[in-house]
Amino acid sequence: MPDNSTTDPARMEKIVSLCKRKGFVFQSAEIYGGLNGCWDYGPLGAELKRNVKDYWWKRMVRDRDDIVGMDGTILTHHDVLKASGHVDTFSDPMIDCKGCNARHRADQLPEKKGETYCPNCGGRELGEPQEFNLMFSTHMGAVKDDDNIAFLRPETAQTIFTQFKNVCDQTGERVKLPFGIAQIGKAFRNEINPRNFTFRSREFEQMEIEFFCREEDGMRLTDEWLETRLNWYQEIGLPRTKLHVLDVPDGERAHYSKKTYDIEYEFPFGIQELEGVAYRTDYDLGKHSAAVGKDQDYFDEQTKERFIPHVVEPSAGADRAVLAVLCEAYDEETLTNDKGKEEVRTVMRFSPKIAPVKVAILPLLKNKEELVAKAREVEAILRPHMNITFDLTGAIGRRYRRQDEIGTPFCVTIDFDTIGQNEDGTDTGIDTVTLRHRDSMEQERLPIAELLGKILPEIA
Ligand code: GAP
Repeated sequence: MPDNSTTDPARMEKIVSLCKRKGFVFQSAEIYGGLNGCWDYGPLGAELKRNVKDYWWKRMVRDRDDIVGMDGTILTHHDVLKASGHVDTFSDPMIDCKGCNARHRADQLPEKKGETYCPNCGGRELGEPQEFNLMFSTHMGAVKDDDNIAFLRPETAQTIFTQFKNVCDQTGERVKLPFGIAQIGKAFRNEINPRNFTFRSREFEQMEIEFFCREEDGMRLTDEWLETRLNWYQEIGLPRTKLHVLDVPDGERAHYSKKTYDIEYEFPFGIQELEGVAYRTDYDLGKHSAAVGKDQDYFDEQTKERFIPHVVEPSAGADRAVLAVLCEAYDEETLTNDKGKEEVRTVMRFSPKIAPVKVAILPLLKNKEELVAKAREVEAILRPHMNITFDLTGAIGRRYRRQDEIGTPFCVTIDFDTIGQNEDGTDTGIDTVTLRHRDSMEQERLPIAELLGKILPEIA
């Protein structure tokens, strides 16, 4: 059961509300009443999620010489998931309430005085637990029969295992044990109780690495991967103090795992899993070898040995990483305005490298042609390098607040100094802008020519 010692439902409500209001996340098919457990990312959410995935790919694939990428299909051959064990064992125990017919996960029912009850109607008359397979199935082709069943993959991992030999054969020199194959992609699970916003969805994205190694290195590499992954979460702005590591005890690990660490984060709805780092041994390649009658093995050129490698798997959820970043970024700050009145500033303190919008360009007055034209010049300098927005409407203070709410780390204000004029038309001599910093609200004056060089290192 989740640790709920740190819950803050009011904070979570505000985050969900901001996500909708500002266009980060919407309920899927909302105008039809919603598709339960499915979420659409709006303009800002799509940028944020892309930045999180790109940063994962950069740090886990491009910055390393021991990991290659792949991009496999979502539709998965029945026999792949039969061999992996998913067809027979990828299930959750469920219980039906006899009073209101609601279906619940048996292991998540609330209890009062030692007795479980239905969280929907409060009834205590519950059916017997039954196993419910979480995979979505479909039929390939025009005929619907048992011979053409395919599944929407429940994890991206199996496409990596089934292409292991091809990757080894095609990438030659680059892949010598230990090495990894990485993939980002959709996965689907027919969760009995999707909940906590995007945390437990029926359609979600995973960022997985299968890191192949010799058996004797499996445990050590599991520990090393735990550290690598903890560092990555810190790099995207989650403080180490809010990340927890659960060493999953015997009996609670997945059937294939000899060691698993769960990386958890203090969400406002409790301390919950972000990622699993599991030592999967040679379970999967072994199962696929047996199923196809051909070893999915590795040949070591130096020692001339042929063997089925073991694997360590850091498996992260892209949506959960995004949700953690949203929860961490949300802040309310009480400020005293010019008139001595207190007001609350809502600010999303995203790390600049994953913020959806990096810079807002704000001409001081929208009806002053020279200001707008100069702002367009600044836009042309910055836009090729980053996602920017151009905002003309409202008082400058209100525009700053709007950008704070979506987490834009920098605002560039184009005023009369920028166009080399004082308000009375006299010449100031230099092209300068005001650069306003989101977190400190400090403003500095600098020449347009220095702007790009100043911002680029901050968002890298
Ligand atoms: N290949 C191993 C695997 O899939 P998992 O612990 O079942 O392991 C890995 O899933 C990660 O995928 C989780 O830590 C979580 O981040 C994400 N994930 C799993 N189920 C999810 C769901 N229903 N909604 C959102 N993310 C999910």
